[in-house]
Amino acid sequence: MAKTELSISSEIKELGIEEYARELESNGLTIVPPEVNGFGLERIDRIVEIILERAEAMTGAKFTLDDGPLDELEFPKPKLTPEQMQQIEALGFKDAILKPTQFLIQKLTQVDRMFRDLVVNPVSVALQNHMMAGQSRLSSVNCFVKWQGDFGYGPGLGLHADQAATPLPWGPVAHSGNSTWCLTDYTLDGGALAYVPGTHKESKPTPPPDRIKDAIPAEAPKGSVIVWHGATWHGAFPRKDKGLRLGLAVYHRHAANLPQEDVPGQTTEAMVEDTDNPEVYRILAGLTDKFPYREIQSEVVPHVKTSAATG
Ligand SMILES: [Fe+2]
Repeated sequence: MAKTELSISSEIKELGIEEYARELESNGLTIVPPEVNGFGLERIDRIVEIILERAEAMTGAKFTLDDGPLDELEFPKPKLTPEQMQQIEALGFKDAILKPTQFLIQKLTQVDRMFRDLVVNPVSVALQNHMMAGQSRLSSVNCFVKWQGDFGYGPGLGLHADQAATPLPWGPVAHSGNSTWCLTDYTLDGGALAYVPGTHKESKPTPPPDRIKDAIPAEAPKGSVIVWHGATWHGAFPRKDKGLRLGLAVYHRHAANLPQEDVPGQTTEAMVEDTDNPEVYRILAGLTDKFPYREIQSEVVPHVKTSAATG
């Protein structure tokens, strides 16, 4: 019989988070509250400040937690044929393309040490390694900045599995995994993450339409980390409230898969040293991996034996 459960590591036991690992296994998602993940709300507050500053620098609009963007925003006009635009309208994505209520701030590990400290949070790393049988690596670190509206996800809530690029069939070991840090409270009316419990065991990239009704909100207080399996169907509920929902996605990959962002190529030794745990960061960034190699020749080459070397 195929093995369907992953063994609980000594790391998980030492941290006392067996219940979260078990929930991740049965449910495909678990929420670890601030008092258990131990990152600390003071650092979360500082991260929020950095995100708000960066959002303003990128868009030109000032953002506040209570009111969202204080100016109206628009995305660059997409170069689409009338037929493509009709298709997009039919799929309900027109507003998402033309009228933004969400955008992504990318490559945050390059911006400040605190984003790298989130990456090496022991609870998050242990749960990611639990899903990936100890072979977790970093794929990207991005922040979803979301305000009132539904970002065009419509009634389907944008449900999908993150590891959809990996060919089927999938097994219990995750090909990707998400640790999303709630920088603001996650509530249903606040536009929480939507997910369908247990669907990491169904091995399908997207849900059939009749399963959309099974989506529930991942509600969590600020400072929580929501960890889910790359096969779990998830999306987002529309934000009905005013103000911002900020979700900081520390996205992991199994070592056998490509990263979203060129983490191994763009992580410097100075960045590694400037973290809570350089040893773990170096591994997660993929710097200790054999592949992809960057040397012209990574394997040793034999040369003609010289008389001096014959001894
Ligand atoms: Fe996703």
